[in-house]
Parts: sequence; structure tokens; C-alpha cells
Amino acid sequence: MLKNIVFGLLFFPGSLLLAASPLYNVPDAPEEYTEKKNKYTSQKDIEIGKKYYEKECADCHGESGEGDNDDKSVVAFNNSDWMKTRSDGQLFYIAAEGAGDDSDMEGYGPWSEMGYSDKRVWRIIAYIRTLIP
Ligand code: HEC
Repeated sequence: MLKNIVFGLLFFPGSLLLAASPLYNVPDAPEEYTEKKNKYTSQKDIEIGKKYYEKECADCHGESGEGDNDDKSVVAFNNSDWMKTRSDGQLFYIAAEGAGDDSDMEGYGPWSEMGYSDKRVWRIIAYIRTLIP
């Protein structure tokens, strides 16, 4: 009995960690963001989003969303397995707010240095969604 408990305590947290270990190190968006939906997904929105993506995001995330596949440090937007797990609101949150002080991913939202409007950030997200091969 005691042996079982000790065993469980030793291995349970380890397996939890393994199961939850994500491909990329991205903070989870708060609920008020994950519920948001993208209202800017027309062909025109996507074209404008592409322009800003190529100007500001492609240096790190890659022209075709290939990310940094060597050390998995930059999210690959063309990785469909990963992108399936991402809500629009999650993508918007990181694009607008950044991925935290330790991250190279800075926020582009209205209050940031870049000062992009919500609409512009959403348009970039609409374009990112087209990068799945
Ligand atoms: C200087 C490099 C760099 C630039 C430029 C950059 N990113 Fe990122 N981005 C990252 C890194 C690194 C991560 C992963 C977070 C981490 O590991 O810190 C990330 C993560 C993200 C995520 C998180 C996706 C998810 O899975 O939740 C989104 C969305 C994102 N970036 C959007 C953008 C957009 C939009 C732009 C341009 C407006 C942009 N990024 C520009 C480096 C960059």
C-alpha cells in the first residue's frame, strides 16, 4: 500500500508533464481572448494581412510560415497539427500582447511600440491561417 503511494507520487507528476509538454513555448491566452472570433477574413483582409506579415513577421516566422524548425523556438504557422490546437483568439492574444518578457515575440497591439490596430492584427491572423499547406 505505502509502496504504491510512493510510486504514484514519484511517477504521476512526471507523466503529467510529458502529456502536457507542448511543441512550442507559448503562454496560454486568458479566456476573454480565446472566445474572440476573427471578423476580418475577406480576400481583401487577407491581402492586407499578407503585406504586414511579410514586412514584420516573416523574418522570424518565415515567408511561408516555416518558423524555426531547427530548435522549434519560433512557431511554424504551416504546421497544421500545431495550428489546429490554436484558436483565433489565442493567436490574436500573442500577436497583440507578445509572448512575455523572456520571449523575442513582442506584441504589436495598439498600446505597443508598433501600435497596430486590432483590425490590422486580425488581418494578419487571417493571412497566417492561409499558410497551412
Ligand atoms: C523577433 C522574432 C519574431 C518576430 C519579428 C515575430 N515573432 Fe511571433 N513569435 C516569435 C517567437 C520566438 C514565438 C514563440 C514564443 C516563444 O517561444 O517565446 C512567437 C509566437 C507567435 C505566436 C504564437 C502562436 C501560438 O501558437 O499561440 C503568434 C500568433 C505570433 N508569434 C505572431 C506574430 C506576428 C503576427 C508577427 C508580426 C506582426 C510576429 N509574430 C513577429 C518570434 C517572432
